[in-house]
Amino acid sequence: MKHYILGIESSCDDTSVAVAANRKILANVTANQQIHADYGGVVPELASRAHQSHIVPTVSAALAQADVDIQNLSGISFTAGPGLLGSLLVGASFAKSMALALDLPLYPVHHMQAHFLAHMIEDQRQATPPFPFLCLTVSGGHTQIIQVNGPHAHQLLGQTIDDAAGEAFDKAAKIMGLPYPGGPLIDKLAREGNPARFSFSEPQVPGYDFSFSGLKTSFLYFLQKEVRQNDRFVEENQADLAASLQASIIRILLGKLEKAAQEHDIPHLALAGGVSANSGLRQALQARAAQKGWQVYLPAFEYCTDNGAMIAISGYYQHLRGAAAPLDTPVEARRPL
Ligand code: KG4
Ligand code: ZN
Repeated sequence: MKHYILGIESSCDDTSVAVAANRKILANVTANQQIHADYGGVVPELASRAHQSHIVPTVSAALAQADVDIQNLSGISFTAGPGLLGSLLVGASFAKSMALALDLPLYPVHHMQAHFLAHMIEDQRQATPPFPFLCLTVSGGHTQIIQVNGPHAHQLLGQTIDDAAGEAFDKAAKIMGLPYPGGPLIDKLAREGNPARFSFSEPQVPGYDFSFSGLKTSFLYFLQKEVRQNDRFVEENQADLAASLQASIIRILLGKLEKAAQEHDIPHLALAGGVSANSGLRQALQARAAQKGWQVYLPAFEYCTDNGAMIAISGYYQHLRGAAAPLDTPVEARRPL
């Protein structure tokens, strides 16, 4: 039997809507917001307004592309948090209105759970990991290692105590004078650079937790010192700076993931979140896994960054469980996993 689930993601700066038929994605349409580039980061009020103008055309486009009539939908899922409150409210209000008007069950989804459940999407571009697997979820807002035991059973092993990994990329890029979001630009520059040229202080955090604010400060002070002697230092060393910084971030991330894999004896390792698009991180993990005999699961690129597909698949699992939520379900800027 086919269940058609609509998934609406609006937690940050992208409005993304997908239609799932069981574990397959029929359409995944994303409206990006270019407006934030001028400000060096996402401006919450501008994000909410852009979601408002994007939500109707994005939902329509996803349904049209999937060739599914709204009368045939089985349920509506939406991101209920964590995220920007105003942005979440736009997606949630729309999802609730649709559920009410069409008399459909409503499925609120945790954004971080959705990131790791994106691995369960049936798609020829990605392999589905068996349970249990470890997922390193690295995005602009979060850095977590999660042990995933099933669609509704997971355990948070560790997370960042300050900045997220994506934030570390974006803030370092900003220090270098690159536009927002800097992560993809650092990735591109790093391919031409020497990762061993510079070194920055890396944190010693116990357990599986992460810290990135010290690295950012170390990067900032190093650049300030060099620029005092040569005001063209950053432009002359862009690629080496990007490669060295990226190498530090990857060492911090993979150090903890490897520790978790060893100590929990789980050989199935997955990446999720926007930073999992980083080519250096993907290569380093694959090289390490080849040595250790681990299996690596990389999501298709469009399921790495924020997307409606991961919300739709999460809704599908709630639908199987028959766990519909009431229309007064709140959205939460902070929402424990
Ligand atoms: O998951 P995501 O799209 O949104 C959040 O939930 O935060 O992640 C966005 C983050 C940004 O910080 C962006 O710079 C980073 O992912 N990012 C990358 C790359 N592509 C996106 N960071 C490093 N290398 C990349 N290729
Ligand atoms: Zn995300």
